[in-house]
Amino acid sequence: MSKKNWIFGRNVVITGCSTGIGKELTVQLVTKFGCNVLGVARNKEKLEALKKELGDKFDYRRFDISDEQAWNDFSEEVKSIGYNVDVLINNAGMIQDFSQYGDMDIATVKKIVNTNFNSVIFGVAAFLPMIKKSKFGYIVNISSASAILPVCGETIYSATKGAVKAFSESLAQDLSGYGIGVSCVMPGPVKTDLYKTRDGADDKAKKNYELVESIGITAEKAAKRIIKAMRKRKTRVLIDSVAKLMDFGMRVAPSLTQKLTCKAMKAACNLVPAFAPIFKEQIEHKEEIGKELKERKSAMYRSLKEVPEKGAFTE
Ligand SMILES: NC(=O)c1ccc[n+]([C@@H]2O[C@H](COP(=O)([O-])OP(=O)(O)OC[C@H]3O[C@@H](n4cnc5c(N)ncnc54)[C@H](OP(=O)(O)O)[C@@H]3O)[C@@H](O)[C@H]2O)c1
Repeated sequence: MSKKNWIFGRNVVITGCSTGIGKELTVQLVTKFGCNVLGVARNKEKLEALKKELGDKFDYRRFDISDEQAWNDFSEEVKSIGYNVDVLINNAGMIQDFSQYGDMDIATVKKIVNTNFNSVIFGVAAFLPMIKKSKFGYIVNISSASAILPVCGETIYSATKGAVKAFSESLAQDLSGYGIGVSCVMPGPVKTDLYKTRDGADDKAKKNYELVESIGITAEKAAKRIIKAMRKRKTRVLIDSVAKLMDFGMRVAPSLTQKLTCKAMKAACNLVPAFAPIFKEQIEHKEEIGKELKERKSAMYRSLKEVPEKGAFTE
């Protein structure tokens, strides 16, 4: 057990501890750093299994993190039991199925915004007063590499992760005067249930996961990197080489990087069926869309010569 850094023995609250990166963070914080961890998720069986594995340094509460009142009730309860929180890790999140934004129903859009972004601002609001009292106050928000390079078919996921990034970077400046550190973690692909659960256990989901399996890192490795960044109190944390490559592309040639990424995804449609809904219409109606594009271009060209004298609202 490593006692050489400030993380040792801290009291932690973490969301999304039942699987994936959150579970690995919980296991490592308890077993390697002697932390107490109070985890949040919904799946009772998984949480119970984790409690059995980790013993009395771990406990959990079950609630939906997109519910603001649940956060307030939770922080009140935490206060009342005398659990003085040093570290808050906003990890839980969900992904969207790859699709055109216009094809998404607004209920799904709201669910993703509430789960991925609103939960983070609710969580920080609920626990900040307690974290300010700690000598070791720290906040970790898990964003995504898609906050740096937003990809096609992931409009809402990318937007929520971009919001988490902006919130975290601004919060880090707000809190620097209090000695409270904030890490914004932007992982590339990590081999977790994130992709599997969205699409169910069908063939499409399997193919989707195969891609992550081939280029992603393990949740164990991701958790190690996150703890290392916490130890160094780093604000901007890119994990791992895929995220670093995305960051490099967006620094050097942002438009080209976005264009090439979208083209590569379109070309990979057959290999990764999950990408297909993004480009389905473009592929199936290639000729008509091509014709429409040509007409639009020439209409635009014509309009440059024929600027209407009357405005749309001229009487
Ligand atoms: N895996 C990747 O490639 C990747 C890449 C970039 C960023 N990330 C981010 O990393 C974070 C962790 O993802 P992961 O890959 O570890 O995914 P995961 O294995 O699917 O885990 C998600 C966790 O969040 C919990 N959760 C989801 N919605 C919740 C809700 N409404 N209320 C309470 N708990 C909820 C789930 O628990 P229950 O189901 O028990 O509630 C689960 O413990 C996410 O924010 C994700 O966006 C992941």
